[in-house]
Formats: sequence, structure tokens, C-alpha cells
Amino acid sequence: YSDSQRRLIQIHEALREFYHYLLVNTENGSEGLAYLNNRGLSDETIETYQIGIAPENGQLAAQHLLNKEFSIAELQASGVFVGEERQLRDRFAGRIMFPLRNERGETVGFSGRILPGSHHANAFPDAAKYLNSPETDIFEKNTFLFNLDLAQNEARRAKELVLFEGFMDVIASHNVGVQNGVASMGTSLTNNQIKAIDKTSKQVLIAYDGDNPGQKATLRAINLIHDQRLRITINVLAFEQNLDPDEFIQKYGGDRYLQFVGNQRLTPIHFMRNYYSREYALQTDKGKIDYIQVMLQAIAKISQPVDRDIYIGEIAKDTDVSKETLLQQLSAVVGKSE
Ligand code: CTP
Ligand code: MN
Ligand code: MN
Ligand code: MN
Ligand code: MN
Repeated sequence: YSDSQRRLIQIHEALREFYHYLLVNTENGSEGLAYLNNRGLSDETIETYQIGIAPENGQLAAQHLLNKEFSIAELQASGVFVGEERQLRDRFAGRIMFPLRNERGETVGFSGRILPGSHHANAFPDAAKYLNSPETDIFEKNTFLFNLDLAQNEARRAKELVLFEGFMDVIASHNVGVQNGVASMGTSLTNNQIKAIDKTSKQVLIAYDGDNPGQKATLRAINLIHDQRLRITINVLAFEQNLDPDEFIQKYGGDRYLQFVGNQRLTPIHFMRNYYSREYALQTDKGKIDYIQVMLQAIAKISQPVDRDIYIGEIAKDTDVSKETLLQQLSAVVGKSE
């Protein structure tokens, strides 16, 4: 690190401590703490993730840092503050604060969640649910995976890394014992994030939200990972339409969640069968033809002949087209892609 990067990390560590103290030990935090407890997070989880609250008065955090002899220029470089030099305000004022740690465990940014029903939320009804730190000299979004530092050890033991969309899914999972999870912080997984995954584990379990954006993003993630040819084994958890992992836990409890994570995983091909048989009308010729086309393209990328044969048998059943015809078509697809 350069000196200025070290100072930026120190600012973030000081803020993490400040926000966390306010949440856990002061009246300012009682509403936020009640919200988190209501979402099922234990005190221990709040401690582990150093969750905090940014005061409604946006000048307090700046004052706190200036008292600690950080400079105005350093505060500006942190990305946490907005406004004129003499009146820097916390861009996260009134939000629940989630420190973003790099793979060494250092705090390099924040994500702030709006606190439903709070004075702040009522005053700004159009405010985004989450607000993230901008890119700085210590925080690069497209390489970042939430929780990579903690998940690394557990992923080595479990020989698998779980990939979530939201950091609340990571935290809620940790809270009930799934501790090898990271989050891409949204649905647009990047190639740099895939590289970081590959360094950590050769097996990944994709656990994106059950809604349409989440399922679409799952498909995209499978293809992106395959395209990088990294020999990562992929499995998928497909949640019900209206549930994300955190909501599954809230609805069914931790024990059923652990069972689901352990036993309900799909191979990418099975995930795609489910996905595309909903997307295309398989009772029509056009639907069958489109379905066969995308499924054969996926199957063509599989190298084991036995796996291919099993999947071809399944596509034959799905469409009432004979295995022989499908195999003929498959060699045409393979021919084209080579
Ligand atoms: N996200 C974001 N800005 C938003 C919405 C989402 O940056 N306005 C990112 C966040 O990193 C979030 C992830 O996308 O963790 C997943 O979004 P979503 O599924 O909407 O959030 P949840 O994790 O389900 O959050 P919550 O349960 O608190 O509603
Ligand atoms: Mn504490
Ligand atoms: Mn989502
Ligand atoms: Mn979600
Ligand atoms: Mn959620």
C-alpha cells in the first residue's frame, strides 16, 4: 500500500467502529438494532459483520474524523462524504451501515441500507434501498466480492464457495451456519469476480434470488464461468419465484435451509431445463425447436460422453424427439462450435 491508501483504510476502520458503536451502544441505534433483530440477525452476527448506523446528522461522522486528525482532503478521498469543504456531509446519513472488507479483512468501503419507517426513509421516499461507496484508491467494484475474507477458510474446508446476489443473503446464511458464502453485490457478475472465485474454490454453488432477474443472472453466470474455461464445477440452487436465500430462511427456518443447500442443488443442465422449458412453449413445434437448440448448445460443451448421453435422453423425453435425431443434431452443433 501507499501511505495515502493506508490512511484511507484507517479512515474506513475508524468509521466502521464509530457506526458500529452507535448502533450497538447508543439510543441512536435502537431503531436500527430492532430492525436487524427483527430480520433474525443475532448479536454475534451483528458483531462479526460490524454492522452499524450512520447518524441522521450527516456532519457528525465528518467531525469525528477531523477530531482524529484526518484532513478534509482525506475525508473527500474516502468517497464517504459529499458537499463543500467546510460542510462535508456523510452520504450515508440515516442508513444501516455494512462495512465492505477486502480479502485481507480491511474495511475499504460501505453499503448503506435505508431503514424502513425511519425519519430519514420518510423524508426521502425515492431514495435507493442500498447506497454503495464509490470507487476509490482502495475500493474497486468490479473485482469485489463481499465476505471473501471470511469465506475463504470455510470454502477450503467445505471445498465449495456459495455465490449470492445480496450481502444480506451472505449474512443471513452465516447466521444459520452457512459460512462459505460471498456476494457479487447485485446480478451483474464480472469476469474479475470469477477470477477471484476461481482462486478460492474449484466448486461454486450459485444461489441467486428466485425472482426473474435472479434466475436470468444465474443463467448468465453459468455461461460466463463456462466461457472462461476455468474447470470450476457449478451447481445451482433454484429458489421459489418470490424468495431470496434470506427470505427462505425467514419463511422456513435455518434447518430447512441447510437441508435445501445440501440436497436441492441442480446441475447447470438441470437448471437450464427448468428455465427454458418455462421460457419456451414445449407443446408447440416452434417452442420445441428453440428449446432443443439452446439445450444442445449447452450439452455440446460437456466433455464426458456418459453425461451427454444422459442429458440427451432427458431432452428427448421433454420434447418427444428421438435420441437418434437429437444426437445427429448435436454433432452438427459440435461441428459448428469447433
Ligand atoms: N443493490 C444495490 N442497490 C440497489 C439494490 C441492490 O447496490 N438499489 C445490490 C446490493 O449489493 C444488494 C444486491 O444488489 O445486496 C441484491 O439486491 P436485492 O436482491 O434487491 O437486495 P437484498 O439483498 O434482497 O436486500 P434486502 O433483503 O435488504 O431487501
Ligand atoms: Mn461490537
Ligand atoms: Mn435481487
Ligand atoms: Mn434479494
Ligand atoms: Mn432480501
